[in-house]
Amino acid sequence: MRLVFLGAPGAGKGTQAKRLEAEKGWTVVATGDLLRAAIAQNTPLGQQAHAYIQRGELVPDPLVNQIVAERLATLESFILDGYPRNLAQAEMLESILTKPLDAVIYFEIGEESLVERLSGRRICPQCNAVYHIKTNPSKAGDKCEQCGAPLIRREDDQPEAIRRRFQVFREQTEPLVEYYRERGLLRTINADAPPDEVYAQLLSVL
Ligand code: AP5
Repeated sequence: MRLVFLGAPGAGKGTQAKRLEAEKGWTVVATGDLLRAAIAQNTPLGQQAHAYIQRGELVPDPLVNQIVAERLATLESFILDGYPRNLAQAEMLESILTKPLDAVIYFEIGEESLVERLSGRRICPQCNAVYHIKTNPSKAGDKCEQCGAPLIRREDDQPEAIRRRFQVFREQTEPLVEYYRERGLLRTINADAPPDEVYAQLLSVL
């Protein structure tokens, strides 16, 4: 399967992508996770990307395109989570794929639910597991139940960065819904439902 997950910040793309990866073995390529790892390791990419992510802005296309192209070069099946995020990235993706995408899954959800999801989110900086303090707490308290690392709050899950990320989504990413609809690839699921229900919709669409 060659999939793109599209949706607003907090729509649940990462949560569902990681579950599909665990159950189906399809590799997740999550640009946000890759960029956060680069920041944590203080690589040249991380140094360049850090300020953009803190502000809730998109990291410049050439940086992101390069990491995606390198990852996809060795993969037959993948779930792209968080890429493409604008028209230029969508065109870049089309140009590097050797086989076409099977589907673009659009996680549709109203903004009201998202602030609550993002402000309660905790992540594992080591294995990228995603939790929520109310709806999906770690069984190990403030540590990751998978690898034991202390959980953290993402620095772009602060109110100002969240507002900017929504704005960027509406202006730059949402137009991709129409772009992929026109190409017959778009499959829409209702992301404003409990995680198991969203997963069941995903399986039925796939
Ligand atoms: P990225 O990491 O991709 O963030 P995002 O797209 O804003 O998406 P999120 O990770 O916030 O949300 P999600 O949909 O994965 O939700 P999750 O499953 O975690 O990007 C971060 C930044 O990196 C960008 O702002 C940009 O700067 C840069 N970047 C990344 N890609 C880029 C690109 N291509 N080009 C340029 N820059 C790029 O769930 C959220 C919370 O809700 C969790 O707590 C979870 O437990 C909970 N939850 C999940 N599903 C449910 C449910 N069904 N019901 C209740 N709670 C739920």
